[in-house]
Amino acid sequence: MTRKNVLVFRELPDDQLARIQADHETTVANPRVPAQRDAFFAALPAAQGLIGSSFRIDDAVLTRAPRLEVISSISVGVDNYELAALKQRGILLCNTPGVLTETTADTIFALVMATSRRLVELALHVREGRWTRNIDESLFGWDVHGKTLGILGFGRIGQAVARRAALGFGMPVLYHNPFPVDLPELAGRARHAALETVLGAADIVVSTLPLTEETRGLMDASRFAAMKAGAIFVNGSRGAIVNEDDLLAALDAGHLRAAGLDVFGTEPLPLDSALRGHRQVTALPHIGSATHETRHAMAVLATSNLLQALRGERPAASVD
Ligand code: DGY
Repeated sequence: MTRKNVLVFRELPDDQLARIQADHETTVANPRVPAQRDAFFAALPAAQGLIGSSFRIDDAVLTRAPRLEVISSISVGVDNYELAALKQRGILLCNTPGVLTETTADTIFALVMATSRRLVELALHVREGRWTRNIDESLFGWDVHGKTLGILGFGRIGQAVARRAALGFGMPVLYHNPFPVDLPELAGRARHAALETVLGAADIVVSTLPLTEETRGLMDASRFAAMKAGAIFVNGSRGAIVNEDDLLAALDAGHLRAAGLDVFGTEPLPLDSALRGHRQVTALPHIGSATHETRHAMAVLATSNLLQALRGERPAASVD
């Protein structure tokens, strides 16, 4: 088998790097690390396979990689890739659906719990030595069980969130999706509805939407205004679906109770972002899939996709 040139643009576990090195000439260079940026761009002209994530690969990058056959993204989201440019150049794009579904749903549900029960705020209350007498109602939270959960996007992750909510917490679920999804285990518990209906009826609204031209900026001032007074907003998909200034305004006006955010328009979240220190915001550093088990499973799938594609086989997961 011909050895090809692979450029690994985000750290891979040693066992997966070894699989690639066994078959191909391999360069590891992460363009987000200043000291490795030049090496990344120097390796592009020869690269036939790329594997990594969290870096924008647009037409300008592709122009520097004329031999490229495949990009294997260690992510399910593919909004970092200029899809039209890939298609035009005949470059295959692979991703990692499925293996991160349950972990990401866990993270989203953790944010539902954390925001409703004020877990971070109250943990800091203890840690900072402010628990000097029984807490009073100024620090009480709000029940999660029995509340209505609105889910925006009803793909694998949205459905996994719905199962947790409906079957574990007795929450009626309303979801917004281009089409209804028939899930026998959620019959009578999860209902397809128009966006405005979901926003107007849910006590907690969760986004699991992919970032596309249709969803970019979807959650703006008018959509936050359409949410119930005192509702909670949780975003576990992509930051750019939210207008963050409008979200802050809805929180500051007292219309929304709290927000739980794992994703932001700019990541890492800039130090001067008003979301960072906001009392009603629980912010996480994009940890949706970040467990040892799941990040390893993503690396295994992404590596398999890459190796299959470079052998001319159909990869397990590719984006049409
Ligand atoms: C994904 O897979 O798209 C996640 O956001 C990365 O953690």
